Amino acid sequence: MPQLTDSQDRYGLISRIFHWGMALLFAAQFLSAAAHWALPREHAVREALWSYHPTLGATLFLLVLLRGVWGLANIGRRPGHSGLLGRAAFAGHLAIYALMVIVPSVRLLAAAGGTRGFSYLGIPIFPAQPAEIAWMRAPAEWHGEMGWILALLVLGHAAMAILWHHLIKRDGTLQRMTGSA
Ligand code: HEM
Ligand code: HEM
Repeated sequence: MPQLTDSQDRYGLISRIFHWGMALLFAAQFLSAAAHWALPREHAVREALWSYHPTLGATLFLLVLLRGVWGLANIGRRPGHSGLLGRAAFAGHLAIYALMVIVPSVRLLAAAGGTRGFSYLGIPIFPAQPAEIAWMRAPAEWHGEMGWILALLVLGHAAMAILWHHLIKRDGTLQRMTGSA
């Protein structure tokens, strides 16, 4: 039976499912954003990928909250980060967490203050407002930019894990998250 909770040596099964499951979903989310940015309006591929962007974004928002609660419940027994590079890695993880919360939040806030309302999986969440509420819409001006910053941080994060830790230093950091150590 694999260990569910985290330990000093590795992340437990629940943290690993959150990490790799959400990594796949984020890849799909960035793909839809990239198609939205790169392809012309009315393009069939752009439309198809864009059709799931708000729903998947709201799902990721719910998942990151659950993952954060699980991370806090395990905070005292997670693998440690020592030295300057370790502290930089920890700060990088915190920045990724912050953007994983802020990026969907600003867009959901804009939906709550918008005239079209917002439904999630067919369940009405925010009713349509009679007129746009400016202060609720304003932070979403930065939604796309912050989303791209998150994508860059994640690329750097994956490169550090695979190139630096796994291929150059061979220090077992990647195995803490794959569970194969
Ligand atoms: C973690 C979740 C999310 C990520 C990583 C993300 C990422 C992005 C990115 C990178 C763009 C820019 C696309 C471009 O340059 O054309 C974008 C645009 C957009 N997203 Fe998201 N998004 C997320 C969640 C959401 C949610 C929950 C909603 C709706 C409730 C939403 C609605 C939109 C809309 C309407 C746009 C086009 C207008 C704009 O750029 O603000 N997104 N998203
Ligand atoms: C190929 C892609 C990826 C690889 C190889 C990878 C690798 C890793 C590894 C090895 C760790 C443990 C690092 C340590 O203990 O110091 C980790 C942790 C972490 N990763 Fe990734 N990662 C990838 C994708 C992602 C994505 C897409 C996200 C978020 C959008 C993400 C967010 C995090 C966070 C927040 C942590 C801290 C631990 C936690 O709370 O889950 N990673 N990753």
